[in-house]
Amino acid sequence: MELYVLNDEEEICKRASEIIFGDIRRNPRIILGFATGSTMIPLYKRLVEISKKENISFSEVHTFNLDEYVGISANNKNSYRFYMEKNFFRKVHIPKENIHFLNGEAKSLINECSRYEKEIKKLGGIDIQILGIGTNCHIGFNEPGSSFKSRTRKVKLSRETRKANSKFFSSFNKVPKYALTMGISTIMNSKKIILLAFGKDKSEAVKKTLTEEISEKFPSTILRRHKNSIVIVDRNAASKLKWKIK
Ligand code: GLP
Repeated sequence: MELYVLNDEEEICKRASEIIFGDIRRNPRIILGFATGSTMIPLYKRLVEISKKENISFSEVHTFNLDEYVGISANNKNSYRFYMEKNFFRKVHIPKENIHFLNGEAKSLINECSRYEKEIKKLGGIDIQILGIGTNCHIGFNEPGSSFKSRTRKVKLSRETRKANSKFFSSFNKVPKYALTMGISTIMNSKKIILLAFGKDKSEAVKKTLTEEISEKFPSTILRRHKNSIVIVDRNAASKLKWKIK
């Protein structure tokens, strides 16, 4: 695992976008795994800006999003699909058929999850998976206790996660109780993983990710077993790490 501690959000997004565009230049048919949440908003802004400025096309790129709420339609402004359309897909040239998403309204959620796994496999697996982190160390919607062997499935969201995500909803009660998420093992199969975190609120989760014993109690600790995982954080998110950062 590589760790970068940078000054602020802007530097983090710059570094992450350099890695992503570097890989797209080498392989325009790259498969990207996307995440949502407030952490990703400046990253998508940067990806859009640079792709325009440097004329980099997403026309052959395929994307798979990590997760989606259950029972919310794609046009609902709280769905992750809507978030991605608003912050990224509508602003770049990417063919509709290259965008892969979990449907939280599918008739059979079990079939939906296995369809997603098959699609990822069919395209040769995810090349770069971008991740944020929950304050309880969840990745995607893999809450503490999620099996390291888990694949894409329906999960129950913890109260802590629903509370944190209620910032996007009109009230806490509107936050769905269930979601579909790629599993830990699905995420770990990605060839490269980039986790981004900024702000003091994430400092405990960042500390645990890097220093706690690797266990299902803290899902993000598994990333230390990945041979190509990169953690990019700002000084605030790194503030609970013991060693001194200059
Ligand atoms: C949600 C998403 C996660 C994301 C987390 C952090 O729970 N499912 O993928 O990492 O939020 O969100 P934020 O960036 O808003 O702190």
